[in-house]
Amino acid sequence: MYVKKNFPLEEDNMKKIIVGSIAVFGLLFCTAVLSFGQSAQQSNLGRVLVLYYSYSENANTEKVAKIIQELTDADIVKVEPATPFPEMEYPQFIQWAREQQLQGAYPPIKNLNIDIASYDFIFVGTPVWWGSSSLPVTELLHQTDFGGKPMAAFSTAQGGPGAAVSDIEAQAKNALPRGGINFNNVASDRQITERVTTWVRGLKL
Ligand SMILES: Cc1cc2nc3c(=O)[nH]c(=O)nc-3n(C[C@H](O)[C@H](O)[C@H](O)COP(=O)(O)O)c2cc1C
Repeated sequence: MYVKKNFPLEEDNMKKIIVGSIAVFGLLFCTAVLSFGQSAQQSNLGRVLVLYYSYSENANTEKVAKIIQELTDADIVKVEPATPFPEMEYPQFIQWAREQQLQGAYPPIKNLNIDIASYDFIFVGTPVWWGSSSLPVTELLHQTDFGGKPMAAFSTAQGGPGAAVSDIEAQAKNALPRGGINFNNVASDRQITERVTTWVRGLKL
């Protein structure tokens, strides 16, 4: 008697719970699909490649490169010297790099295993070294043909922008330069994500 009287009520509740759960899961699924589509198309730059070099412990240029990667759903590749740079204290390294730069001694870089032709838009990022691009990125430019692709350069610096962005734009063979940018003091810039986002969203194919 007790069981018979209460069973229909329990059945009703169960139905409500099942229908409610389906509705909630449906809603969550639709939201996930919509937001995924949005992030993949956010930049309208097509298939994007980010090439960058970063040296310091703060990895400032890498930080910017990763923000771009997230915004554009890009492939990201770090440019690296084939043989690691000699180990030394940071101030000594700055001087050593200057001597290399003045001698035009650009280090061979590791094979990147990339096919530029398969991308629609390429970012090239470097720390500013003595007012220009770093040795590995300069070497990258020596050996890369951008095949008529749009390319946006970015740099990070401690004191001032120098000419790294314009040097990259001038040296990138067969690239179609889009508005490049320098970011100062990335490590202490609380709005860096916002700044990078504003820049990337303003770029066109
Ligand atoms: C060899 C060398 C040269 C540098 N020259 C400059 C410069 O000319 N102007 C400047 O503002 N910062 C200069 N810096 C500082 C770096 O550009 C800056 O800290 C950058 O954000 C580091 O990026 P990273 O962390 O990706 O290596 C130099 C750093 C090094 C190692």
